Amino acid sequence: MKTLLHLVASPRGELSNTLKIAREVIARFQSQHPDGKVDTLDLFAESLPPMSLTATDGKYRLLSGKELDAETMPAWQPILAHIERFKAADIVVISSPMWNFGMPYVLKHYFDVILQPRHLFRYTENGPEGLAKGKRVIVVTSHGGDYSEGPAKAMDLLEPPLRTMLGFIGIPEPTFIKAQPMLGAGPEVAQQKLAQAIEAAKRLTF
Ligand SMILES: Cc1cc2nc3c(=O)[nH]c(=O)nc-3n(C[C@H](O)[C@H](O)[C@H](O)COP(=O)(O)O)c2cc1C
Repeated sequence: MKTLLHLVASPRGELSNTLKIAREVIARFQSQHPDGKVDTLDLFAESLPPMSLTATDGKYRLLSGKELDAETMPAWQPILAHIERFKAADIVVISSPMWNFGMPYVLKHYFDVILQPRHLFRYTENGPEGLAKGKRVIVVTSHGGDYSEGPAKAMDLLEPPLRTMLGFIGIPEPTFIKAQPMLGAGPEVAQQKLAQAIEAAKRLTF
């Protein structure tokens, strides 16, 4: 039985462009895996553990080869739970609008929580090694403008950091489905681009 983890990084619910597309991705998964499990993590509804002094101390302990101790463990329990939830997924779908050229803060917070040494990456003699290999990741993004080419491409701080973080943990080839421009060229173009992204979602095979 396959598990799909859906990370929702838009607070807009029924109004959300990324969720309209992600819903098709999930419907496609369910049609191909009727016994599959869908785990939804709404990053705006659920509060993530803070990367506090104690939590970051725990990270530095792991980085220096030590174990978590009595002081750091309480702050780390919810961090470990999120890491396990992520690791349990065969497929991860990320729904993320562009906010101020990058990802919404809750999604960055999520990555700050789960990207931990010895859990999702480790350092070896040959450099860093991702430990989340074999996962399929589909990233659904939408932007008000169009960042696909020209000078605007360099302003896209959403896709490159997502690729970097996913690559670092062993997922070198995430699939991106993008809907853009959702605002910059008027409602007709937006509808057309949204429909194209939904069609791309319908062609996915799991
Ligand atoms: C706080 C905020 C910041 C945004 N910043 C940008 C931006 O920098 N560039 C852009 O093209 N669109 C920006 N947008 C527009 C959204 O990316 C766009 O409307 C997207 O389709 C929203 O996706 P959603 O409906 O799934 O939330 C912003 C929207 C909000 C609410």
